[in-house]
Amino acid sequence: MLQNFLVTGGAGFIGSNFTRYLQNNHPASFIVNLDLLTYAGSLENLKELPIPGKYHFIRGDIGDSSLVESILRDFNIDTIVHFAAESHVDRSLTGPSAFIQTNIVGTFTLLEAARVVWGENNKMDPSKVRFHHISTDEVFGSLKPGEPAFTETTPYAPNSPYAASKASSDHLVGSYARSFDLPVTISNCSNNYGAYQFPEKLIPLMILNALTGKPLPIYGDGMQIRDWLYVDDHCEAIWTILQNGEIGESYNIGGGNQPPNIEIVKTICDILDKSVGTPEDKCHADLVQFVKDRPGHDRRYAMDITKIKNELGWQPKFDFDQGLNRTIDWYLGHTDWLNAIIKEKEYQNWVQINYQGRE
Ligand code: NAD
Ligand code: DAU
Repeated sequence: MLQNFLVTGGAGFIGSNFTRYLQNNHPASFIVNLDLLTYAGSLENLKELPIPGKYHFIRGDIGDSSLVESILRDFNIDTIVHFAAESHVDRSLTGPSAFIQTNIVGTFTLLEAARVVWGENNKMDPSKVRFHHISTDEVFGSLKPGEPAFTETTPYAPNSPYAASKASSDHLVGSYARSFDLPVTISNCSNNYGAYQFPEKLIPLMILNALTGKPLPIYGDGMQIRDWLYVDDHCEAIWTILQNGEIGESYNIGGGNQPPNIEIVKTICDILDKSVGTPEDKCHADLVQFVKDRPGHDRRYAMDITKIKNELGWQPKFDFDQGLNRTIDWYLGHTDWLNAIIKEKEYQNWVQINYQGRE
């Protein structure tokens, strides 16, 4: 039924994993990937797709309404899975405007195109079309010690410009369902990790820096907590929602793994000590450096996944130990990918700006 997919941001971390997941598990799907190829997107993430004949790449902006409308028409798109976004909290603190443009205006443009094109010929039928929006647990703000995990009814309280832009996009998506009967679903997920994650985010950054003997910057005291979700589990959860999710509903997705940041970094170091050896009588953990904290840094996230578990039967398969070992193995086996990504000028600039602000 849902067959012709528009995946936005399919050259990014989660979007490329989802594209591969669809081709491996649901080979009848035809996929159009609309991606602007910002610093975070790379066609390196999509090499050797299993069914290249059922995949089409278009470089473009989700904020370009005529392009989006023509894609929906030309490819008879029945399912939009919307990943495209500016996704890095640190960058939203140094340059928020792209976050407003892509995450808010871009999402609005996609919604409007879907309303116009799917509204033609009476096609706004949940059995025929679907708009699935990928969002984040960051919209709920920060949990205090002892506070229960976020549920789908936790009030929104975003703290960073990134989180506020995602909260805004979630509200727009909900409004299109209620005002125009657009068949939407939303998922709010926790921190993903796994293959093809751009090495600005905690886990791949620590792997890369440890391998190249660079400092491992821990913001503040390193006792912040995230709810780590292996990306393969996330892809399966999205598919589950596409198949069985109730129209107009949102679903929390989390991995149930909540070690503090410093513990994660030390575990990465221990794994690397064993797998690649230690440099000159030192261990990788010697590279840890506590640096200035991120402004407005959320202390703790945790997701209550009761709804998706009870109503749709999804739960994560990977515990953190398995997921982290697989992730490190993947990075060790893909040094060509890593080298191609980090030689980009944009990456080097970001590293410089980020370090200058924190020393
Ligand atoms: P990413 O930064 O790795 O990839 C984003 C992709 O979007 C890139 O390929 C980029 O080129 C593309 N893009 C950016 N602006 C665009 C535009 N204007 N038009 C078209 N394409 C554009 O992000 P990710 O980590 O894969 O995250 C994907 C989605 O999941 C985002 O919506 C993010 O908010 C959400 N999310 C991510 C996480 C996480 O831990 N990574 C957790 C919760 C939610
Ligand atoms: O919670 C979901 C969110 O997870 C997504 O919506 C975002 O798109 C995604 O980027 C991620 O946001 P975080 O800010 O949690 O991810 P990041 O990897 O940047 O940081 C994870 C934690 O590690 C956070 O507490 C900050 C800390 N950190 C991060 C970096 C990059 C460090 O201590 N040092 C670092 O160098």
